[in-house]
Amino acid sequence: MFVVIEPPRRDGAEFLCLCVLIDMSGMAGTSCRREITMDAHEPDMPVSPEHLSSATEFVAALNRLRLWAGKPSLRRMRVLGGQTTTAHGAVDLLPPSTTSGILNGEGLPRLPRMEFVEGFVAACLRARGQATAEIEREVVRWRETWRRLAASTNLGAPAAGRKEAEDGVMAVGALGTGIGRNDLPGDLADFTGRGAELRWLFSGPSADDGARAATTVAVIDGMAGVGKTALVVHAAHRMVERYPDGQLFLRLHAHSAGAQPVGPEFALETLLRAWGVHGDQIPEELEARAALWRAQLANRRVLTVLDDVSNAAQVRPLLPGSAGCLTLVTSRRRLVDLDAASTLSLDVPPPGDAIALFARALGNDRAAHEFVAVGDVVRLCGYLPLAIRLAAARLQARRAWSVAYLAERLRNSGRRLDELAAGDRRLTAALALSYEQLAPAVQRVFRLLCMLAEDDIDARVLATTAHCDIAEAEQVLEALLDVHMLQQSSAGRYRVHELLRLYARLMVREAEAEAEAEAEAEACLRRG
Ligand SMILES: Nc1ncnc2c1ncn2[C@@H]1O[C@H](COP(=O)(O)OP(=O)(O)O)[C@@H](O)[C@H]1O
Ligand SMILES: [Mg+2]
Repeated sequence: MFVVIEPPRRDGAEFLCLCVLIDMSGMAGTSCRREITMDAHEPDMPVSPEHLSSATEFVAALNRLRLWAGKPSLRRMRVLGGQTTTAHGAVDLLPPSTTSGILNGEGLPRLPRMEFVEGFVAACLRARGQATAEIEREVVRWRETWRRLAASTNLGAPAAGRKEAEDGVMAVGALGTGIGRNDLPGDLADFTGRGAELRWLFSGPSADDGARAATTVAVIDGMAGVGKTALVVHAAHRMVERYPDGQLFLRLHAHSAGAQPVGPEFALETLLRAWGVHGDQIPEELEARAALWRAQLANRRVLTVLDDVSNAAQVRPLLPGSAGCLTLVTSRRRLVDLDAASTLSLDVPPPGDAIALFARALGNDRAAHEFVAVGDVVRLCGYLPLAIRLAAARLQARRAWSVAYLAERLRNSGRRLDELAAGDRRLTAALALSYEQLAPAVQRVFRLLCMLAEDDIDARVLATTAHCDIAEAEQVLEALLDVHMLQQSSAGRYRVHELLRLYARLMVREAEAEAEAEAEAEACLRRG
């Protein structure tokens, strides 16, 4: 193989040869000829990053940029490149050994870190005495190219593809960074419906909501199993290109069996580590951690999903300050005190989408065969996605059952919750995690109102039943509404989701059984 440089150049040629050889190394053993024609005229700016199509070309272009800048020494590049802030203070962006390694193509086929590239481009332009505005413009061009190349290494691909993608862009250089990291769990292959909610998430600023123009935090709240996580994960996968610097996912475990909610300190540590910051660079104090996190994300376009959050205090320190970042938060509670957040309260899907969800989970053929029974099952599940999934899974596990047979079993309201279980997933377990977080007095009121015959409840009815005044009843109803144990049918009127009502009745029976057992034990003691 031989490489022709045409016309002969005094600069950069050897490196370009090296790059081409690397590019062609997959062709070892074959004889081939490749010609590179370089511009014989020295343009104002020697490289148009927009045209670069590989990491190799990218690094070659950095070399040419330095030559154009008068080939400043590595020591001078360090001074011109400036510094970045870490937990341990300021660090040079262009340490000579790093710069020399990158320019020699040592990190290929990986891209250099974006921070390095930004510092490098700025240093070259400073060496040529360019104005600040020009430097900024040029840095933006290189940053965009970097993102395009990083994205073209398939950063959005889940699971198996992700590792290679990370390898393709992870750091060459001294400072670790997670730029390009994708932590998202896999998207649901059979994700169904939620068109309006996805549009809301994608639309950003909307005409009737001026505040959303600057919004970088969107909160999705709703009852257990309504589909909050599924929605944000699906949306996040579709937003990968908008947030090419990274997509992070963190569960905060507000409602996980056997796990405590994650405190903001630990959450920040996890995020910073995921971002490639070494443990010994992570400060102890919450404020300092939060500041470091914001500094890491400054001027970046990163999407962070914070799943299953308990309250606003848990989230606030994790929010980036940069307007280019988006944070999607899910919670069973309305986070009314999270400023600057747009909120969407997720309801169960409309019947048509709920049926489609069930049909896809079960297999469309089987569902089409018994479409009337499918409608019954979905209605008996209260259109709740989690219940629908469990019903479909139950049918998958019992091939001999027809959909109509399952519907028949679900009609027995005393047994319905038991029917909605598959493997180790139980609907009651998901509902219990919400119920158990209520204060005992609120649990009592909730049980009481679930025993009422009316579907629609107001504070007056509850006050009569619970023997309290109307203001107190209203307060409890609003508190239950805030944690999505109740829904609001119209101002001042509330209703309970059918499956939650069944769960509360189960709790009543348990409480009665416990009281009876206690009374019996006491009677035994008195007799004895
Ligand atoms: N739009 C949807 N399409 C398909 N399945 C969904 C959808 N929404 C939710 N599910 C399923 O319903 C179940 C509960 O959803 P999840 O997102 O975990 O609820 P939440 O986070 O609100 O508790 C999951 O098994 C999920 O796969
Ligand atoms: Mg969830």
